[in-house]
Amino acid sequence: MADAEIGVIGGSGFYSFLDDVTEITVDTPYGRPSDSLFLGEVAGRQVAFLPRHGRGHHLPPHRINYRANLWALRSLGVRQVLGPCAVGGLRPEYGPGTLLVPDQLVDRTKARTQTYFDGEPLPDGSVPNVVHLTFADPYCPTGRQAALSAARGRDWEPVDGGTLVVIEGPRFSTRAESRWHAAQGWSVVGMTGHPEAVLARELSLCYTSLTLVTDLDAGTETGEGVSHDEVFRVFAQNVGRLREVVFDAVAALPDNAARDCLCTGAHAGWDLGIELP
Ligand code: ADE
Repeated sequence: MADAEIGVIGGSGFYSFLDDVTEITVDTPYGRPSDSLFLGEVAGRQVAFLPRHGRGHHLPPHRINYRANLWALRSLGVRQVLGPCAVGGLRPEYGPGTLLVPDQLVDRTKARTQTYFDGEPLPDGSVPNVVHLTFADPYCPTGRQAALSAARGRDWEPVDGGTLVVIEGPRFSTRAESRWHAAQGWSVVGMTGHPEAVLARELSLCYTSLTLVTDLDAGTETGEGVSHDEVFRVFAQNVGRLREVVFDAVAALPDNAARDCLCTGAHAGWDLGIELP
Protein backbone atom coordinates (compact mmCIF):
# COMPACT_ATOMS: atom_id res chain seq x y z
CA MET A 1 0.00 0.00 0.00
CA ALA A 2 1.14 3.55 -0.70
CA ASP A 3 2.40 5.62 2.24
CA ALA A 4 0.14 8.50 1.26
CA GLU A 5 -2.52 9.29 -1.33
CA ILE A 6 -2.90 13.06 -0.83
CA GLY A 7 -0.19 15.67 -0.38
CA VAL A 8 -0.44 19.04 1.36
CA ILE A 9 2.32 21.58 0.85
CA GLY A 10 2.06 24.20 3.57
CA GLY A 11 3.14 27.78 2.92
CA SER A 12 4.43 30.65 5.05
CA GLY A 13 3.18 30.17 8.60
CA PHE A 14 1.75 26.73 7.80
CA TYR A 15 4.47 24.47 9.18
CA SER A 16 2.45 21.67 10.69
CA PHE A 17 -0.83 20.16 9.67
CA LEU A 18 -1.48 16.88 11.42
CA ASP A 19 -1.25 16.10 15.12
CA ASP A 20 -0.28 12.46 15.05
CA VAL A 21 2.44 12.02 12.44
CA THR A 22 5.25 9.78 11.30
CA GLU A 23 8.21 11.80 10.11
CA ILE A 24 10.19 10.40 7.20
CA THR A 25 13.05 11.69 5.08
CA VAL A 26 12.86 11.15 1.35
CA ASP A 27 15.60 11.58 -1.21
CA THR A 28 14.94 12.07 -4.92
CA PRO A 29 16.99 12.10 -8.14
CA TYR A 30 16.52 15.88 -7.97
CA GLY A 31 17.89 16.24 -4.45
CA ARG A 32 16.25 16.71 -1.08
CA PRO A 33 12.78 18.19 -0.54
CA SER A 34 12.29 21.26 1.67
CA ASP A 35 12.06 19.14 4.83
CA SER A 36 10.99 15.77 6.15
CA LEU A 37 7.57 14.56 5.10
CA PHE A 38 4.98 14.10 7.81
CA LEU A 39 2.58 11.21 7.30
CA GLY A 40 -0.78 11.04 9.00
CA GLU A 41 -4.49 10.47 8.53
CA VAL A 42 -7.34 12.86 7.81
CA ALA A 43 -10.89 11.49 7.55
CA GLY A 44 -9.51 8.05 6.81
CA ARG A 45 -7.26 9.36 4.02
CA GLN A 46 -3.48 8.93 4.13
CA VAL A 47 -1.88 12.36 3.87
CA ALA A 48 1.71 13.52 3.47
CA PHE A 49 2.43 17.04 4.68
CA LEU A 50 5.47 19.01 3.56
CA PRO A 51 6.35 22.51 4.84
CA ARG A 52 7.27 24.32 1.62
CA HIS A 53 9.83 26.66 3.18
CA GLY A 54 11.12 24.10 5.71
CA ARG A 55 9.88 24.12 9.27
CA GLY A 56 11.95 27.10 10.41
CA HIS A 57 11.09 28.97 7.20
CA HIS A 58 14.73 28.91 6.11
CA LEU A 59 14.07 28.54 2.36
CA PRO A 60 13.15 31.65 0.35
CA PRO A 61 10.78 31.04 -2.60
CA HIS A 62 13.57 30.96 -5.21
CA ARG A 63 15.59 28.39 -3.23
CA ILE A 64 12.81 25.85 -2.78
CA ASN A 65 13.56 22.58 -4.54
CA TYR A 66 10.13 22.33 -6.17
CA ARG A 67 11.15 19.35 -8.29
CA ALA A 68 12.26 17.34 -5.26
CA ASN A 69 9.12 18.30 -3.32
CA LEU A 70 6.67 17.03 -5.94
CA TRP A 71 8.78 14.00 -6.83
CA ALA A 72 9.02 13.00 -3.16
CA LEU A 73 5.25 13.23 -2.76
CA ARG A 74 4.63 11.16 -5.86
CA SER A 75 7.16 8.54 -4.73
CA LEU A 76 5.03 7.99 -1.61
CA GLY A 77 1.93 7.32 -3.69
CA VAL A 78 0.47 10.82 -3.66
CA ARG A 79 -1.61 11.68 -6.73
CA GLN A 80 -3.52 14.74 -5.50
CA VAL A 81 -1.90 17.81 -3.97
CA LEU A 82 -3.36 20.80 -2.14
CA GLY A 83 -1.11 23.86 -2.02
CA PRO A 84 -2.16 26.58 0.43
CA CYS A 85 -0.09 29.78 0.19
CA ALA A 86 0.00 33.42 1.26
CA VAL A 87 -0.65 36.05 -1.42
CA GLY A 88 -1.21 39.77 -1.82
CA GLY A 89 -4.55 41.06 -3.11
CA LEU A 90 -4.51 43.03 -6.37
CA ARG A 91 -8.04 44.40 -6.01
CA PRO A 92 -9.35 46.45 -3.10
CA GLU A 93 -12.15 43.93 -2.57
CA TYR A 94 -9.60 41.12 -2.04
CA GLY A 95 -8.46 42.31 1.36
CA PRO A 96 -6.64 40.38 4.10
CA GLY A 97 -8.48 37.21 5.04
CA THR A 98 -9.85 36.57 1.54
CA LEU A 99 -9.59 32.97 0.37
CA LEU A 100 -9.25 32.76 -3.41
CA VAL A 101 -9.05 29.49 -5.31
CA PRO A 102 -7.41 30.49 -8.60
CA ASP A 103 -8.17 28.96 -11.97
CA GLN A 104 -5.36 30.68 -13.85
CA LEU A 105 -1.69 31.37 -13.36
CA VAL A 106 0.82 33.85 -14.77
CA ASP A 107 4.52 33.09 -14.44
CA ARG A 108 6.66 36.16 -13.77
CA THR A 109 9.50 34.21 -12.14
CA LYS A 110 12.93 34.51 -13.67
CA ALA A 111 15.31 31.82 -12.55
CA ARG A 112 13.56 28.63 -11.56
CA THR A 113 13.83 25.22 -13.11
CA GLN A 114 10.30 24.48 -14.23
CA THR A 115 10.54 21.08 -15.84
CA TYR A 116 11.71 17.54 -15.14
CA PHE A 117 12.34 17.14 -18.85
CA ASP A 118 15.45 19.23 -19.35
CA GLY A 119 17.74 16.65 -20.93
CA GLU A 120 19.91 16.34 -17.80
CA PRO A 121 20.68 12.69 -16.96
CA LEU A 122 19.34 11.37 -13.66
CA PRO A 123 21.70 9.62 -11.20
CA ASP A 124 20.54 6.22 -12.56
CA GLY A 125 21.74 7.20 -16.04
CA SER A 126 18.32 7.64 -17.63
CA VAL A 127 17.81 10.84 -19.59
CA PRO A 128 14.50 12.72 -19.72
CA ASN A 129 13.17 13.40 -23.21
CA VAL A 130 11.83 16.74 -24.36
CA VAL A 131 8.18 17.01 -23.31
CA HIS A 132 5.77 19.91 -23.93
CA LEU A 133 2.68 19.46 -21.80
CA THR A 134 -0.65 21.16 -22.30
CA PHE A 135 -1.05 23.65 -19.47
CA ALA A 136 -3.98 25.82 -20.59
CA ASP A 137 -5.84 25.02 -17.37
CA PRO A 138 -3.19 24.79 -14.68
CA TYR A 139 -5.33 23.62 -11.77
CA CYS A 140 -7.31 20.47 -11.08
CA PRO A 141 -11.04 21.17 -11.57
CA THR A 142 -12.01 18.48 -9.06
CA GLY A 143 -9.60 19.73 -6.43
CA ARG A 144 -10.84 23.29 -6.93
CA GLN A 145 -14.43 22.23 -6.30
CA ALA A 146 -13.37 20.31 -3.19
CA ALA A 147 -11.58 23.41 -1.86
CA LEU A 148 -14.49 25.74 -2.66
CA SER A 149 -17.08 23.47 -1.03
CA ALA A 150 -14.85 22.98 2.01
CA ALA A 151 -14.53 26.75 2.50
CA ARG A 152 -18.28 27.29 2.09
CA GLY A 153 -18.91 24.51 4.59
CA ARG A 154 -16.86 26.50 7.09
CA ASP A 155 -18.77 29.74 6.35
CA TRP A 156 -15.78 31.26 4.62
CA GLU A 157 -17.12 32.38 1.25
CA PRO A 158 -14.22 31.89 -1.17
CA VAL A 159 -13.52 33.72 -4.40
CA ASP A 160 -14.11 31.13 -7.11
CA GLY A 161 -11.42 31.62 -9.74
CA GLY A 162 -9.00 34.36 -10.63
CA THR A 163 -5.43 34.66 -11.75
CA LEU A 164 -2.44 34.13 -9.49
CA VAL A 165 0.63 35.97 -10.76
CA VAL A 166 3.84 34.54 -9.37
CA ILE A 167 6.83 36.84 -8.99
CA GLU A 168 10.43 35.83 -8.41
CA GLY A 169 10.80 37.57 -5.04
CA PRO A 170 12.03 37.46 -2.43
CA ARG A 171 11.22 41.18 -2.44
CA PHE A 172 7.65 42.37 -2.80
CA SER A 173 6.52 44.31 -5.89
CA THR A 174 7.04 48.01 -6.47
CA ARG A 175 3.86 50.07 -6.76
CA ALA A 176 4.38 50.30 -10.53
CA GLU A 177 4.74 46.52 -10.88
CA SER A 178 1.75 45.99 -8.66
CA ARG A 179 -0.43 48.45 -10.59
CA TRP A 180 0.64 46.78 -13.80
CA HIS A 181 -0.30 43.35 -12.45
CA ALA A 182 -3.71 44.69 -11.41
CA ALA A 183 -4.22 46.44 -14.77
CA GLN A 184 -3.76 43.10 -16.52
CA GLY A 185 -6.80 41.86 -14.66
CA TRP A 186 -4.78 39.52 -12.43
CA SER A 187 -6.23 38.86 -8.98
CA VAL A 188 -3.56 37.95 -6.45
CA VAL A 189 0.24 37.89 -6.32
CA GLY A 190 2.48 35.34 -4.66
CA MET A 191 5.97 33.86 -4.87
CA THR A 192 5.60 30.07 -4.74
CA GLY A 193 2.70 29.03 -7.00
CA HIS A 194 5.11 28.52 -9.88
CA PRO A 195 6.74 26.16 -10.76
CA GLU A 196 4.83 24.04 -8.22
CA ALA A 197 1.71 23.77 -10.39
CA VAL A 198 3.48 22.91 -13.64
CA LEU A 199 5.78 20.34 -12.04
CA ALA A 200 2.74 18.68 -10.50
CA ARG A 201 1.18 18.50 -13.95
CA GLU A 202 4.37 17.02 -15.41
CA LEU A 203 4.01 14.23 -12.86
CA SER A 204 0.29 13.81 -13.67
CA LEU A 205 -0.62 14.95 -10.17
CA CYS A 206 -3.83 16.85 -9.47
CA TYR A 207 -2.84 20.22 -8.04
CA THR A 208 -5.07 22.78 -6.35
CA SER A 209 -3.92 26.16 -5.10
CA LEU A 210 -5.66 27.73 -2.09
CA THR A 211 -4.49 31.32 -1.77
CA LEU A 212 -4.96 33.25 1.45
CA VAL A 213 -4.71 37.02 1.03
CA THR A 214 -2.51 38.43 3.79
CA ASP A 215 -2.22 42.01 2.50
CA LEU A 216 -3.25 44.40 -0.20
CA ASP A 217 -0.34 44.65 -2.61
CA ALA A 218 1.58 47.92 -2.97
CA GLY A 219 -0.35 49.29 -5.94
CA THR A 220 -3.72 48.66 -4.33
CA GLU A 221 -3.13 50.91 -1.33
CA THR A 222 -1.39 54.13 -0.43
CA GLY A 223 0.35 52.93 2.77
CA GLU A 224 3.97 51.97 3.33
CA GLY A 225 3.84 48.94 1.07
CA VAL A 226 3.70 45.27 2.00
CA SER A 227 5.80 44.10 4.94
CA HIS A 228 6.96 40.63 5.89
CA ASP A 229 5.55 41.11 9.42
CA GLU A 230 2.10 41.92 8.06
CA VAL A 231 2.10 38.79 5.90
CA PHE A 232 3.03 36.54 8.83
CA ARG A 233 0.66 38.23 11.28
CA VAL A 234 -2.37 37.86 9.00
CA PHE A 235 -1.43 34.32 8.04
CA ALA A 236 -1.19 33.41 11.74
CA GLN A 237 -4.66 34.88 12.31
CA ASN A 238 -6.13 32.68 9.58
CA VAL A 239 -4.08 29.51 9.70
CA GLY A 240 -6.54 27.75 12.04
CA ARG A 241 -9.49 28.07 9.70
CA LEU A 242 -7.34 27.45 6.64
CA ARG A 243 -6.27 24.18 8.23
CA GLU A 244 -9.91 23.23 8.74
CA VAL A 245 -10.71 24.01 5.12
CA VAL A 246 -7.76 21.93 3.93
CA PHE A 247 -8.88 19.07 6.18
CA ASP A 248 -12.37 19.16 4.68
CA ALA A 249 -11.00 19.46 1.16
CA VAL A 250 -8.83 16.36 1.75
CA ALA A 251 -11.92 14.47 2.88
CA ALA A 252 -13.83 15.55 -0.25
CA LEU A 253 -11.19 14.51 -2.81
CA PRO A 254 -11.94 11.38 -4.86
CA ASP A 255 -9.98 8.17 -4.44
CA ASN A 256 -6.86 8.29 -6.55
CA ALA A 257 -8.11 5.38 -8.65
CA ALA A 258 -11.31 7.31 -9.42
CA ARG A 259 -9.63 10.46 -10.77
CA ASP A 260 -11.14 11.42 -14.10
CA CYS A 261 -9.83 14.98 -14.56
CA LEU A 262 -7.50 16.46 -17.17
CA CYS A 263 -4.49 16.05 -14.84
CA THR A 264 -4.40 12.27 -14.89
CA GLY A 265 -3.24 11.67 -18.41
CA ALA A 266 -1.18 14.83 -18.74
CA HIS A 267 1.78 13.04 -20.26
CA ALA A 268 -0.09 10.25 -22.03
CA GLY A 269 1.41 9.65 -25.43
CA TRP A 270 4.78 11.17 -24.57
CA ASP A 271 7.93 9.07 -24.33
CA LEU A 272 9.27 10.52 -21.10
CA GLY A 273 12.63 8.78 -21.23
CA ILE A 274 12.53 8.35 -17.44
CA GLU A 275 10.50 6.27 -15.01
CA LEU A 276 8.22 8.30 -12.77
CA PRO A 277 8.15 7.03 -9.19
N1 ADE B 1 2.84 36.81 -0.30
C1 ADE B 1 2.03 37.42 0.56
N2 ADE B 1 1.78 38.71 0.19
C2 ADE B 1 2.46 38.89 -0.97
C3 ADE B 1 2.59 39.98 -1.85
N3 ADE B 1 1.98 41.14 -1.63
N4 ADE B 1 3.38 39.82 -2.93
C4 ADE B 1 3.99 38.63 -3.16
N5 ADE B 1 3.89 37.57 -2.36
C5 ADE B 1 3.13 37.69 -1.28
